[in-house]
Amino acid sequence: MQVAGKWALVTGASRGVGLRIAKALAAKGAKVIVHSRSLSASQKVVDEITRLQGFAVAVEAELSDNQAVASLVSQVNQLTHQSLTVLYNNAAIMTPWRDDAVVPASDYALSFQVNCIAPASLCDAFLPQMKQQGEGRIVNVTSGIADQPQLMAYSCSKAALDRYVRDMLPSLAGSGVLMNLMDPGWLQTDLGGEQAPNHPDSVLPGALVPVLLDEEAGSGQLYCAQDYR
Ligand SMILES: NC(=O)c1ccc[n+]([C@@H]2O[C@H](COP(=O)([O-])OP(=O)(O)OC[C@H]3O[C@@H](n4cnc5c(N)ncnc54)[C@H](OP(=O)(O)O)[C@@H]3O)[C@@H](O)[C@H]2O)c1
Repeated sequence: MQVAGKWALVTGASRGVGLRIAKALAAKGAKVIVHSRSLSASQKVVDEITRLQGFAVAVEAELSDNQAVASLVSQVNQLTHQSLTVLYNNAAIMTPWRDDAVVPASDYALSFQVNCIAPASLCDAFLPQMKQQGEGRIVNVTSGIADQPQLMAYSCSKAALDRYVRDMLPSLAGSGVLMNLMDPGWLQTDLGGEQAPNHPDSVLPGALVPVLLDEEAGSGQLYCAQDYR
């Protein structure tokens, strides 16, 4: 799919994976809505994109707050006149490592809210307009995390997001909208930590694959960014 001239929302675009995706989409001519929790952090990225001759707009929203998520939807609809084409649900949190593998309920609540409920709400909000346009690409960022009970809240929240994508498939058939998952690999970001084997730049070009796909590629696939290095 061509993204030039089309609106794309990238959540968590102030740093790490989202920053790379936002800049890469802008370089392809998309009009990028850069999201983070603070307008000034989003604006920094917008300034960078503008310097590189791209077009971007900054927004802020705390994704653990349902009202802030609703307000983000309104802001995006105002900017785009309800014509968002790309939704890149990238923002996520990782709750602390629990040495004893006893994960408090509050870790689950926060992880599910930010990593699953907010992305699902954004999908639900923007899917109808994408279907109406007959074109859209939704990418939900997941994780290959496995066998780490100390981070159970994070991994369960990502598993729930995977399930959301899988069970949404019947409603997408023939709509022109694709919804897929992207695993960026283990990266040296604030979330991934210094011990990760991969530089965050290594998510490209793979992270763009689920956006640039033809409709025939279908939905419900897992794209691993490190496979395209
Ligand atoms: N790094 C890895 O090794 C790895 C591995 C597998 C999957 N992933 C996934 O890749 C995605 C990006 O991860 P990353 O490593 O790039 O993370 P990161 O460097 O920590 O960046 C996280 C981004 O999400 C935003 N964010 C965090 N909490 C938020 C909240 N409560 N509300 C709204 N925005 C929030 C941050 O914005 P602020 O500037 O406002 O904080 C920031 O832009 C995530 O979905 C993560 O689960 C990462």
